[in-house]
Amino acid sequence: MNIRAVILAAGQGTRMHSKTPKVLHPLLGRPMLQYAIDAVQREGAEKPVIVVGHAAQEIRRVFADQALFALQDEQLGTGHAVQQAEPLLRDQAELVLVTYGDMPLLTSGAIDRILAAHQAHEGPVTMLTMIGDDPRGFGRVLRDERGYVKAIVEEAQASPEQLAVRELNPGVYCFNAGWLWQALKRIPLSPKGEYYLTDVIGVAVADGLPVQALLLDDPAEGIGINTRVHLAEAEAALRKRINRQWMLAGVSIIDPLRTVIEPGAQIGQDTVIWPDSYILGNTVVGSDCVLGPNTWISNSQVGDHCRIINSVVEKAIVEDHVDIGPYAHLRSGAHLSSRVHMGNFGEVKNSFLGPGVKMGHFSYIGDAQIGQDVNIGAGTVTCNFDGEKKNHTEIEAGVFIGSDTMLVAPVKIGAGARTGAGAVVTRDVPPDTLAVGVPARAIRKLKKHD
Ligand code: UD1
Ligand code: MG
Repeated sequence: MNIRAVILAAGQGTRMHSKTPKVLHPLLGRPMLQYAIDAVQREGAEKPVIVVGHAAQEIRRVFADQALFALQDEQLGTGHAVQQAEPLLRDQAELVLVTYGDMPLLTSGAIDRILAAHQAHEGPVTMLTMIGDDPRGFGRVLRDERGYVKAIVEEAQASPEQLAVRELNPGVYCFNAGWLWQALKRIPLSPKGEYYLTDVIGVAVADGLPVQALLLDDPAEGIGINTRVHLAEAEAALRKRINRQWMLAGVSIIDPLRTVIEPGAQIGQDTVIWPDSYILGNTVVGSDCVLGPNTWISNSQVGDHCRIINSVVEKAIVEDHVDIGPYAHLRSGAHLSSRVHMGNFGEVKNSFLGPGVKMGHFSYIGDAQIGQDVNIGAGTVTCNFDGEKKNHTEIEAGVFIGSDTMLVAPVKIGAGARTGAGAVVTRDVPPDTLAVGVPARAIRKLKKHD
């Protein structure tokens, strides 16, 4: 069966009161519409058609390689919006699945169910419904005595009895394509001056055709977003869902309500996440780690057995058995090899720290290459910026950098060398040499220890 999906996203989202089009507002780091695309997209299937209107160019740009687009010049309602997809889909599809771009919690499982139910049934349309205590402006679903849907009444047009109905329309429909295209032409103009897709149900009923409805198990899936209050609710529900998946997979989350894990992140077994922590973007965290409290990790790789407390890690690589924080900041291009210890108030940017490096307190390492087992004393700074460009620092294995050393780059400290406390190093220090003072000078050769 050839199935094509249509996602409606032409509305402005007036109730968001935003410069950003509604469907581009992010939830857990991804635009709202991305979730709708992911829910309907099947392996190997044709791309969905997104109906765009308001901010069409912006939306096209974001999803250019994931969808086809139909333009709805004037937003004359959801029924009119679906009509705009007809030229792209006529004779291309036997079934047309329609969803709205503002319902990010809908799962592909629910889509599978509606497609299966529709194909097992003879009516021209099957829809999802849900029971919800908070009707939040949703259309009410009215059923006849046989259990078929006889109408969807929009809130603005509903009578008091109809308003009391708690079976709601989330906005997911499966249609026989041939029937849909002709039925859309028969939708009456609503009192609001729009063509409502929901009125297509009335067209089926008028033709004596059955409309089947399938109840969503989890009403959270049907949350539609019209305001920023709904946006926050939907994000909370999404967060809960993702956190639950990780807990069931063996990750301990001390307080799931205070933990944010974005959908692209991966976390290994027996890792423990303390509250107020954020695992963002395509971060991969290994197993047996302790993260947080108060840790922010985005687009980074973290190995196994790491501890990251009260720290920020962005676009960085952290190998195994690394200990970070509290109050550390790893910036883009930081790479900490195994067993590195990075204590409080340290910052590392675009630098490689070899295995076993220790930088306990108040240091900045930028644009540097640091060898194995180097000890970086408190307050050390790589002075990497000369006012015009960034310069490189190299510290070879086994070096001991005294507290408060300024390494004025470009500069190289040879293997086994030491600097005295407060040294301002402006010239290279040869291996196994002690350099002290301002500017630092070599004062003696050190005994090599093997
Ligand atoms: C719609 C449904 C309502 C349902 C609710 C679920 C209709 C008439 N009503 O109401 O029964 O309970 O969703 O969330 O369908 N859009 C267009 N072009 C238009 C108008 C809307 O593309 O001319 C798009 C919007 O961008 C949005 C979606 O359709 O993504 C739904 O529109 P919205 O205005 O949010 O409809 P609701 O009032 O929520
Ligand atoms: Mg809506």
